[in-house]
Amino acid sequence: MQIKTVGVLGCGLMGSGIAQVCAAAGYKTIVREVEQSFLDKGLGRVRKFLEDGVAKGKVTVEARDKTLAHLSGATAVDALKDCDLVIEAIIENLDEKRKTYAALEQVVGTHTIFLSNTSSLCITELAAATARPDRFGGLHFFNPVPLMKLVEVIRALTTSDDTYQTVFAFAQSLGKEPITAPDRPGFIVNRLLVPYLLDAIRAYENGLGTLEDIDKGMKLGCGYPMGPFTLLDFVGLDTTYYIANIMFEEFREPAYAPPPLLKRMVLAGRLGRKSGQGFYLYGS
Ligand code: 3HC
Repeated sequence: MQIKTVGVLGCGLMGSGIAQVCAAAGYKTIVREVEQSFLDKGLGRVRKFLEDGVAKGKVTVEARDKTLAHLSGATAVDALKDCDLVIEAIIENLDEKRKTYAALEQVVGTHTIFLSNTSSLCITELAAATARPDRFGGLHFFNPVPLMKLVEVIRALTTSDDTYQTVFAFAQSLGKEPITAPDRPGFIVNRLLVPYLLDAIRAYENGLGTLEDIDKGMKLGCGYPMGPFTLLDFVGLDTTYYIANIMFEEFREPAYAPPPLLKRMVLAGRLGRKSGQGFYLYGS
């Protein structure tokens, strides 16, 4: 199946990045947000990334213009009616996703493939909420989407071979390196990353070292681009807490149980970079 037009649902941090890489790869891309102000913010983020890229000599003026020319925004679901493939990157809430898929199914063709960028929800459960469980899969990107090479391709129990192959080839066409991950909480990367991050919090609570020393240790000792607390603030403490809870619920293993400090930081609104404070303080 040939993919020409791509829809992206949600223009937050992940959705805007996904829309950007699809447009950069030459797909006609339409990104949909529920409110114009959210759309403006997300598209502004894409423009800024491309401008910064030009200033750094990493993006050519032609590539910037081509990406922007392929990208448009909309608030009506109807704008996605001609899409061959739609990637959903909205809030991690099953009911909201179900409602969005139902609205989408009213406007798209029967051939259209639906993909979710969920980091934690069950792909088979999402697929079952649609009338096209065989044309449904997971496509999990990493933050920051335009820079991270990896994409996880997840098959639901119901995903057809055709859909899987089309999606895998589509991920490659975006210039990404896809891997096939199982429909289990955390897929491959978060299954290994989240227990590591939770362990770092537990170790810190137990007095292993300062935040700075633990971060420096893992960054310089292991060659990781960020230490665990810098990464937790980057990913968002609420996001990590949410994923950990889903993993713990499914596996019932202590390694996935969110540590008390993580829960309390989320309750206090210390969510990381996005709220101005997490393990570290941000902004002025
Ligand atoms: N346009 C084009 N290229 C750009 C750019 C732009 N606007 N901005 C930066 N770049 C390029 C830089 O030129 C540089 O390229 P080079 O390596 O060829 O020189 C590269 O991108 C890195 O940029 P910077 O030097 O500005 O920044 P850093 O070196 O500090 O890297 C980072 C930033 C890529 C975010 C790095 O710190 C990193 O990889 N951190 C870890 C991120 C991570 O683990 N993400 C996954 C989180 S988990 C997740 O998302 C899953 C979810 O389910 C929770």
